[in-house]
Amino acid sequence: MFSLAVFVSGRGSNLNSILNAPRLRNLIEVKVVVSNKEHCPAFDIAKKYSIPVYSVGNKEGFKSFNELENLFLSLEIDLIVLAGFLKLIPVAFIESFRNKIINIHPALLPSFGGSGMYGMNVHRAVFNSSAQVSGASIHFVDESYDTGKIIAQRSVDISDVHSPEELAERVLKIEHQLLPDVIEKFALGKVFVDKTRVRVLN
Ligand code: GRF
Repeated sequence: MFSLAVFVSGRGSNLNSILNAPRLRNLIEVKVVVSNKEHCPAFDIAKKYSIPVYSVGNKEGFKSFNELENLFLSLEIDLIVLAGFLKLIPVAFIESFRNKIINIHPALLPSFGGSGMYGMNVHRAVFNSSAQVSGASIHFVDESYDTGKIIAQRSVDISDVHSPEELAERVLKIEHQLLPDVIEKFALGKVFVDKTRVRVLN
């Protein structure tokens, strides 16, 4: 089985989409769910599936990123998926898992990304720009917010939306399809990184 660690901070609908994707059922195992929070709704989803949860950070009782790194090495984690994780990952951790950490972003990067661009902030910015399409992007995680190489994107027509909330709903549907699709590609060894571009085989 291809082993995943999923990082979350909030409601966990993307975590849920991974756990419920029929195509991933006999292919992947989510071995741990990690949050920067002591508790978040996504932890309840993990617990429903008997997946161990850990909080990471400097607070008492939380794991440090160093401890997490050792845990992941012992669990032989193949891919780390940030699905709504709101904290910057320390550089040393990224270096240890170079090209093994991916993030899902609810807009078409490289637009509408960067510090402060998360959750409804993204959808409000897209709505106010009057962009006519939006979508989801999955990219490798590097040292800053949303700048790593893009692995996959899917777009959605938003020309008729009336609010940022309606836009967010439309994008979320796309996210729930794209993330399992991309994880499947990783699990099947179909993602390659060359000097400048990421290639995903059909
Ligand atoms: C998603 O929109 C994701 O793209 C972004 O944060 C949100 C997390 O939602 N990074 P959920 O916790 O998966 O429901």
